[in-house]
Amino acid sequence: MNIFVLTGAGVSAQSGLGTFRDKDGLWSRFDPMKLATPEAFARSPNEVHAFYNMRRRNLIEAEPNAAHHALARLEAGLEERGGKLFLCTQNIDDLHERAGSREVTHMHGELLKARCAACGAIMPWCEDLSVDTPCPSCGDTGNLRPHVVWFGEMPLFMDAIYDALLEADLFVSVGTSGSVYPAAGFVAEARGHGIRTCEINLEPSDNARQFDERRYGPASEAVPTWVGEILTST
Ligand code: APR
Repeated sequence: MNIFVLTGAGVSAQSGLGTFRDKDGLWSRFDPMKLATPEAFARSPNEVHAFYNMRRRNLIEAEPNAAHHALARLEAGLEERGGKLFLCTQNIDDLHERAGSREVTHMHGELLKARCAACGAIMPWCEDLSVDTPCPSCGDTGNLRPHVVWFGEMPLFMDAIYDALLEADLFVSVGTSGSVYPAAGFVAEARGHGIRTCEINLEPSDNARQFDERRYGPASEAVPTWVGEILTST
């Protein structure tokens, strides 16, 4: 059985990383147009760096929760049964990897990586970044940025994502409001190809009606329950 799982900020909420659009979510406290666009970075790079430095420091303090661990178990369990998990995340944290997931597709990039806009180098990055940080690869300063996808930029790995989606027997969305495309369109794409769909979330997402099955509750409870059912039924 091949399963495509899409995760959003809700899967990391109970690890203390917060979400974007919930009450007191990140975008209710910070303006994404001032901190998460290429124009914002060109206009005030150090303000953007300070925002991502703060998020990077929070991430380093965070721990994966039971939902991340359950999805790592699902990956191993499906492989043992000759199936496959394609784990696509909108999150820029590394909690899936730290929980043991071996293949994670980060369509919005990764907070613990930096990219040089001058030479294109992408490198692991756990420290603070500023306009004065020289690129370790080309030495250029002022062009090192978080390796994350900002509003107005193309998500990553879209060809591989759509290929995997069309090979899935089941599409499951976990912890996302379904408000940002193209990820919010994956459920319609799956339905259009006769693929069963399931939403696991704290509350109905913007596209809840498009899901064949809907499970609501905290991801750290709902995801392990669902994974347990999948692994005992396949
Ligand atoms: N368990 C399960 N779901 C939860 C939990 C939880 N403990 N807490 C919150 N949620 C759900 C919320 O109900 C909401 O539907 O997670 C969802 C989070 O939605 P958003 O805050 O919009 O986050 P997300 O859907 O990941 O945002 C998508 O928008 O700003 C961009 O790049 C950013 O990747 C992000 C994208």
